[in-house]
Amino acid sequence: MGIEIEKGCVELSKVAISETHGEDSPYFAGWKAYDEDPYHECTNPSGVIQMGLAENQVSFDLLEKYLEEHSETATWGKGAPGFRENALFQDYHGLESFRKAMASFMEQIREGGAKFDPSRIVLTAGATAANELLTFILANPGDALLVPTPYYPGFDRDLRWRTGVNIVPIHCDSSNSFQITPQALEAAYKEAEAMDIKVKGILITNPSNPLGATIQRKVLEEILDFVTLKNIHLVSDEIYSGSVFSSSEFISIAEILEARNYKNAERVHIVYSLSKDLGLPGFRVGTIYSYNDKVVTTARRMSSFTLISSQTQHLLASMLSDKKFTENYIKTNRERLRKRYTMIIEGLRSAGIECLEGNAGLFCWMNLSPLLVLENKATREGELELWNETLHEMKLNISPGSSCHCSEPGKGSVRVIENGGEQRKEGRGCYQRVHHQPPQAFTWLGIRSVPRRIRVRIARKRNDDEDAKEELYSLVTVVEIPKDELKGLGTKVIDDED
Ligand SMILES: Cc1ncc(COP(=O)(O)O)c(C=O)c1O
Repeated sequence: MGIEIEKGCVELSKVAISETHGEDSPYFAGWKAYDEDPYHECTNPSGVIQMGLAENQVSFDLLEKYLEEHSETATWGKGAPGFRENALFQDYHGLESFRKAMASFMEQIREGGAKFDPSRIVLTAGATAANELLTFILANPGDALLVPTPYYPGFDRDLRWRTGVNIVPIHCDSSNSFQITPQALEAAYKEAEAMDIKVKGILITNPSNPLGATIQRKVLEEILDFVTLKNIHLVSDEIYSGSVFSSSEFISIAEILEARNYKNAERVHIVYSLSKDLGLPGFRVGTIYSYNDKVVTTARRMSSFTLISSQTQHLLASMLSDKKFTENYIKTNRERLRKRYTMIIEGLRSAGIECLEGNAGLFCWMNLSPLLVLENKATREGELELWNETLHEMKLNISPGSSCHCSEPGKGSVRVIENGGEQRKEGRGCYQRVHHQPPQAFTWLGIRSVPRRIRVRIARKRNDDEDAKEELYSLVTVVEIPKDELKGLGTKVIDDED
C-alpha cells in the first residue's frame, strides 16, 4: 500500500478477525506463489505453472467467434434506449430473458433429463455467492452442514466464514473410489450430534471437485433418502454438470426428483454457475435453483447483495438463447476436455502415477503416496513437504489432498486445464514447458534425487492439432541426466533469432 498509515488499536468485528476465512490453506498459498511468480513462456519461463486453479480455457475460441459474429450482443444496439435499459435500476429478479435462457441451458446440459422453471431461478454473482447465500438461509450460526471429502477447499471460506456455520466432513476414502455410503453419512451425523452441533443439511458436489467424477444414481437415491429421514436439506452444487465428458454419465438430483414426482423436493436446492462449463469466472454468473418457495423468495431478496450486472445478463441471454451455438459449444467443449484429460492421465500413468478414473470436470485426482511411503513420510506433514517442493522447486502448483480434507496422505489433484489453456504455442525463441514432463522427471528419479537443473531438449515441430492457430510449436522434453553427472552442463541463452 502506497501511503504509510500509523497502526492504531481500533477494533474490527468478530467476523472480520475470525480465522474461518479458510485462506490459510495450501490451496490459496499455491495461488499466491503463482501470482508472485507466474510462468510465462517468453518473459518468465522458470515461473510457477498454475495447475491448481479450475479455469476452463479450452473453448474460448468458440465464445470469441460467437461474439465476433454477433457483435450487437456485447453492445447496446443502436441509439440510447439499449444503453438506458442496461444502465437503469434492475430489481433482484434479473432479466426475464436471462433467467429463461439459464433454465433452458441447464436443461440442455442434462439433455432433457430434467426441467427447470425460470421462475425458480435466483441469480447470484457466481456459485460462491449462491453457496453462501443458501447456507445463510438453511442454517443458523453454530449449526452444521455435512460435506463429503475430499471437497473444494473454497467451501471452508464460502460456507463458514460470514455465516458462522460449521462444516462436518463425511469421510470418504479410496477403498470405494470415494463414493458416499449410508454408513459414512450416519457416522458424520453422529459425530455432529456428539459435538452437540445441529445438522441442517448436506452439501454435495456433482460432478466432484476435486475428484473429477460423477456421483452414481444409487448414491444420490441414498443421500435423498437420508436427508428425508433426518428432515434436513440437500444442496447439490452442479457447477461442472456441463463438463461431463459423456452426458449419459451424469445424473442430476433434479432427475431423481422428477422420477419421484417431486416428493420431498422442498428440501432440495441446486447451485449452478457459468464459471466452469462456459469458462467465464470473471463474469460472476451463478444461480440457485430451489424447489422450496420460501427459499426462492428469501434467496431472491438476499441476492440484492450479490447481483449480476444487466450488461452481462443481456449478453449471455442472447448467447444462451442461440441453440445452434450452445449445442455445438457443449459438444465441442466436452470432447476437448476429454482429450485433455486423457493426455494428462496417460502421461501420469506412464510415469507410474496412479489416477482415479474420472469422467468430468477439470481435474485429475492422482496418488503420490508411493513417493511418501518411499521416504517413510506417509503423513499429512510429509504430504505438505512434497507439495512445498513441487511448488517451490519444480515450480508447479497442484493441490494437496489435505487441502480438500482428504484423510489419506499423498492424494492430490491437478487441474487438467491449467492457466494459459493451450499446451502448444509457437514460440520464436521462447520455449514453453510441455507440462506433464516435469512431474515425470521427478517421479522417475524420486523427487529428492532430481538435480537442481533439469536438462531439456527443445525441438521445433509442425503443429498438427486441428484447433491450433500456429503452424509451429516448441516441444520441450526432459532428458535424463545420469546421477551425479551435472558437471559440464551449462545454461545456454538462446535469443530470438536462433
Ligand atoms: C465446486 C465449486 N463450487 C463453487 C465454485 C465457485 O465458483 P464461482 O466462480 O462460480 O463462484 C467452485 C470454483 O472452483 C467450485 O469448484
